[in-house]
Amino acid sequence: MTGQILAGARVATLDSVQSYGLIDRGAVVVSGGRVDWVGPECELPGRVSGWPRRNLGGRLVTPGLIDCHTHLVYGGSRAREFEMRLTGASYEEISRSGGGIMSTVQATRGLSLEDLVASALPRLDALIAEGVTTLEIKSGYGMDLDTELRMLKAARQLGERRPVRVVTSFLGAHAIPDEFRDRSDAYIDTICLPALEAAHEAGLADAVDGFCEGIAFSPSQIDRVFARARQLGLPVKLHADQLSDLGGAALASRHAALSADHLEYVSESGVKAMAKAGTVAVLLPGAYYTLREPVAPPVSAFRDHGVPMAVATDANPGSSPIHSILTILNMACTLFRLTPEEALAGVTCHAAAALGFRDRGRIRAGCLADLAVWDLDHPRELACRIGPNPLVERISGIGS
Ligand code: NIG
Ligand code: FE
Repeated sequence: MTGQILAGARVATLDSVQSYGLIDRGAVVVSGGRVDWVGPECELPGRVSGWPRRNLGGRLVTPGLIDCHTHLVYGGSRAREFEMRLTGASYEEISRSGGGIMSTVQATRGLSLEDLVASALPRLDALIAEGVTTLEIKSGYGMDLDTELRMLKAARQLGERRPVRVVTSFLGAHAIPDEFRDRSDAYIDTICLPALEAAHEAGLADAVDGFCEGIAFSPSQIDRVFARARQLGLPVKLHADQLSDLGGAALASRHAALSADHLEYVSESGVKAMAKAGTVAVLLPGAYYTLREPVAPPVSAFRDHGVPMAVATDANPGSSPIHSILTILNMACTLFRLTPEEALAGVTCHAAAALGFRDRGRIRAGCLADLAVWDLDHPRELACRIGPNPLVERISGIGS
């Protein structure tokens, strides 16, 4: 099979622990939607010598970016809450008075499948325009069976409407709906678990997520949801230790979770449990920034214990109304003190691991040929600025 040679590139493979896996004067050979070969241009194998060749003029090539935590499908706006927080109300106070996630639930329940897709497309386009080739989209603003399934269908349709790979997570345990106030166990039994089963049956859920927090679900409730998910063969992940330490990271690790996300308040023992379970830490600087959290996640503990750190937008209408993965890269460095290399690994190879993929997030023979080409000299420039979009093009193996 004949493919294509992308030559004259500075290739940040992210396939080595040092210096971005950078290859100066590199080439990537792409065939059948996969990377066939990558290395210095002067070492191109003879078998591809007659293949069509494109010169990228010294531009930077990275793996296509992966946004491993988004709530991209939703209805309504939370701008009013933004104003309320500016005059002193906290995220938790707004949530306890019926606003927050529940106000988005009301707006989302009122939208048809077509409206959910149409309203999410501009947000998706903004991520694609910055080099995203795979993203995760959660349900969690339905809190009833029909709307949860409709959100997941909308997520699947987004992946059909645009050249991007969409992975879905069922987030039925996100907030306690008003009709179940003080009856959260009944919500888990009569809505969340049946909706999880229906989503699985319909092939709409690739993973199962939850929100373990004082304003959401307790560790024992999440435990029940995860036990069912694992019986169904679905991987799990958790919004854990975001606003307080309820032992969420350890709970996620006990279920061999793909990731634990947020983690501002995770304990050292939680970090150790993650290291042992191979659970990825997904850092969400957009929510930390928007909510002006006083505590940052313990990045040095993750480093010390060898827990891989992914970075994601958490794009949602309330706690992280940010649809720019490049801005998030900058925030991961500025707010959490990640190095630019850690931040880029966070939206490529470690984001892939957070979604359970080994076939993307690095430029390596056999991996998907999902690439981003940038008008930049060095990968560190991706994280150090906010503003003009340096993306030249995405080269995606989708559809090949
Ligand atoms: O990831 N922490 C819980 N869930 C979302 C918030 C969603 C919302 O506020 O609408 C998050 O921050
Ligand atoms: Fe989230």
